[in-house]
Amino acid sequence: MREHRRFVGGFEVIEFADAAEVEALRARQSVPAEFDLRWAFEYGSEVAELRALYEKGKLAQWNAEHDVDWSVPCGPGEWIVTAEGSLLAQVLKLMGRDEQTQRAAAFEEIAYLISQLLHGEQAALQLCGQLTNGCEKMDEKWYAASQVADEARHVEVFSKLLQRKLGEIHPISPTLKILLEMLLQAPSVREKTLGMQTLFEGMAVGIMDLLRSQSRNPLLTEVLRRVEQDEARHAAFGVLMMRRVVRRASADERAQMEDWCFSVLEALNANQQLDMLALLGPKYWIEPEAVVRMTTALPNFAQLNCLPYMHTVVPNLKNLGLLTERSEAEWRRVGMLVDRREVEALLSAAGPV
Ligand SMILES: [Fe+2]
Ligand SMILES: [Fe+2]
Repeated sequence: MREHRRFVGGFEVIEFADAAEVEALRARQSVPAEFDLRWAFEYGSEVAELRALYEKGKLAQWNAEHDVDWSVPCGPGEWIVTAEGSLLAQVLKLMGRDEQTQRAAAFEEIAYLISQLLHGEQAALQLCGQLTNGCEKMDEKWYAASQVADEARHVEVFSKLLQRKLGEIHPISPTLKILLEMLLQAPSVREKTLGMQTLFEGMAVGIMDLLRSQSRNPLLTEVLRRVEQDEARHAAFGVLMMRRVVRRASADERAQMEDWCFSVLEALNANQQLDMLALLGPKYWIEPEAVVRMTTALPNFAQLNCLPYMHTVVPNLKNLGLLTERSEAEWRRVGMLVDRREVEALLSAAGPV
């Protein structure tokens, strides 16, 4: 994505400005993925922690059609999140636009965000199918297969939420599509596990937790709570798998993995919602670059920006030894990491959520 990088103020962003290129990227549905599948002839349990996680997952199954109360109203006439939960609403408020416009923009922005989570869920569904094939041990295959069922349920629940309540499924962000395809095309279980299970699952938990704390709609809260519980288990699988990989890796290999993790999340961070702003901004007289220039120049930009990263990904990577003093300054430079005390101060200043 190097050709899509440029500076906006002092911040380097990734932006897809060419509409025809974005269209072509979205239209490509077939992705060649060469990947070896493995037999496992040891049918007894070899990794007790994974077997326990698999058992936990079986007990925590739920039904997206019957366990969710779809009769709860959720529509554009209400604030489904607090005003602070929507970038567009905050910008429109600064622009002096009326509350109805702010509310409508917040509603569309959440539909956009849930759409991106939905597309991410589809990628997780496909990637876990690959892991079921590629993992070496039967415990890993069982767990990965159980996650396939979880991810199918997440695709189901988010697509129903969008179709029944939020009105529209927005197309996938080009930045997200490129990153997810990179993981789907990765040739090894190690990269797939690190990328999807550790980075993207961890990000999903962080984003969903933040969104749930800002939700004002009981249906949205309920759906997020249920999905988040499953995602926390998936992120735990990533840590259990990667702990064994990292233990066996040489210092050079560990450094490579550390740099790779940073590069994947830095690309996600560098988009700074430009894909969303490009799609929805024009409808609300909003100029994407001006918004990014304004937000990245805020004195507390890093404290706000780091929240989804610091929720699960940062502690898990530190725990694995894949976020060390070597790369920490880079994480801080792009606003993905601050001292925990600063986050706590920000959250307590915002009051109970
Ligand atoms: Fe999921
Ligand atoms: Fe997941």
